[in-house]
Amino acid sequence: MCGIIGYVGQQAAGPILLEGLQRLQYRGYDSSGIAVLDHDGALAVLKRAGQGALADAFPSAESIAAGRVGIGHTRWATHGGVTDRNAHPHSSTAGDVVVVHNGIVENYRALRDQLIEDGAEFVSETDTEVIPQLIAHHLRQGSDFPTALRATMATIEGGNSVVALHASDPQRLYAARKGNAGGIVIGFGEGEMFLASDMPALIPHTNRVRYLANGETARLSSAAVEIWDSDGNAAPTEPESIPLDPVAVAKGPYKHFMLKEIWEQPRALSDTIRGRARVDPGQVVLEDVPLSDDDLRRLRRVLIIGMGTSMHAGMLGRAYIERLGGLPADFDNSSEFRYREPLLGPETLVVSISQSGETIDTLGAMHHVKEAWNAPQITVCNVPGAATTRITDGSAIYLRCGPEIGVASTKTFTASMAALYLLACRIGVARGHLQPADLDDALGTLLAVPSLVDRMLQQSDRYEEIASQLPEASNLLYLGRGLHYPIAMEGALKCKEISYIHAEGYPAGEMKHGPIALIDRHTPTIAIALRDALYGKMCSNIQQVKARDGVVVAIGTEGDEELAAQVDHFIPVPATGELVAPFATAVPAQLLAYYLATLRGADVDQPRNLAKTVTVE
Ligand code: F6R
Repeated sequence: MCGIIGYVGQQAAGPILLEGLQRLQYRGYDSSGIAVLDHDGALAVLKRAGQGALADAFPSAESIAAGRVGIGHTRWATHGGVTDRNAHPHSSTAGDVVVVHNGIVENYRALRDQLIEDGAEFVSETDTEVIPQLIAHHLRQGSDFPTALRATMATIEGGNSVVALHASDPQRLYAARKGNAGGIVIGFGEGEMFLASDMPALIPHTNRVRYLANGETARLSSAAVEIWDSDGNAAPTEPESIPLDPVAVAKGPYKHFMLKEIWEQPRALSDTIRGRARVDPGQVVLEDVPLSDDDLRRLRRVLIIGMGTSMHAGMLGRAYIERLGGLPADFDNSSEFRYREPLLGPETLVVSISQSGETIDTLGAMHHVKEAWNAPQITVCNVPGAATTRITDGSAIYLRCGPEIGVASTKTFTASMAALYLLACRIGVARGHLQPADLDDALGTLLAVPSLVDRMLQQSDRYEEIASQLPEASNLLYLGRGLHYPIAMEGALKCKEISYIHAEGYPAGEMKHGPIALIDRHTPTIAIALRDALYGKMCSNIQQVKARDGVVVAIGTEGDEELAAQVDHFIPVPATGELVAPFATAVPAQLLAYYLATLRGADVDQPRNLAKTVTVE
């Protein structure tokens, strides 16, 4: 979950590291630190607990100024509290080996005891500290640094990425990766090299990159990169060029990245759909999905996996695959799925969804599918070349949303829904479930989604006003049925993660089985009640809430005066195709949560306790 940055070159490393850490704060931000080396081997470390504390301390840290080589880290605490001592970088007892780390050293207790017996002194409560100690141990035994680092990686258990400096080697930087915990990307500059846990940190510097593979170790100087595999054999170092738009990572006129990304949805959806949905005659082109019509005809089932918001998109994907694809489908939470024995086989298509492509539980579930069941897999992902796409050997539907910086996912939620809709159409055509005219209709409706979402965004002031009129609530309920139940779940998730108001999303039919006991005039309900097949039932549920003095915000069909008259606040949705209506209802669900959070003064882009990419279990 943590963010890592490294630099070696001719410029002062400190400001570059600090700037990189600022760009990586969405990965973790409870403490941060940097270490720099000057050309004489003098090492300076500066680390602080607390958001912004490092930047405050930096100007007076003169020892940092001379270094041209350095590493930095922004932390999301796993082992050990949020203190200066536990902040990274961590050092060996002699202080000459310094590392930053992402992942969990699962066997750190045993290693720590052993190292203490050998004379090492520990100053933090972290698992990380065993890493510089182990490297130092191997150096003392006579290994050179790459060998010592490789031996250390072989000894520590779990998925781990490490970036290191050695005072006796003051012009170079080291990195290593083992397992699926986060990633390390090497950035190639002119007379300078960079390392980062992910691309946003490198955007101002270079787009020529090489991702470090599982088991690899790297040594970087300002002029060269060397990489070895886990056996110490030299590996190719050729970088690839990644297209990046630096403007896309700036907030622009928006107060928060989350708000910007919510407003980007019409553009992001167009980019997800562009070239893939063709009408008249209808055709779906999924350029990176190699499954043939025959492959799709052989399927008997689709299983969708993901976490959090991605899983909510998967809930809708299930409905799309059933309705448009004509295939039984289900969804599961990756962290549960990976420890079950799900009895898959070559006739089950597994579709994983992960914005980052780095979520540890989704990666674990995908490995499980590959190793135990060898079932065909596709992944829905926003980051080109991410770990999920490597597990599927490139079989992917890329969202093409551009970087999502806000910790709470928004544009990648609706884009994932669009990707699954396309996949469902592709399956439906191959299996003869969708006739040409049906496909034309289904794709035509999808192509209108960006403007539908845009119309919902135009009512943004209304959402803000409604949020300001809701009673000071410590609980909120989101209710929906059918296709809008996943939106209720997603609205509730957005609400709790950014406003810290406890919120739950329920299928409305579940209300009478317990949750209705929560209703009183202090517990507002957001109810999605469009004029669809389940409208009558939703209206009854709304009545049940009203009968108990509950405040109701209804998201209903434009012109539904009858419903508008029964509820406290009404949000109109233009009449649209039933299957794409969730794209519309997602917008007020996101923006109500956003305004509830900003009205409470919450830090929307960096909510407490969360990180954008969850690379530990
Ligand atoms: C919530 C949110 C998370 C992510 C989840 C999966 O707003 O962003 O619930 O959806 O951590 O992340 P990815 O999609 O990167 O696998």
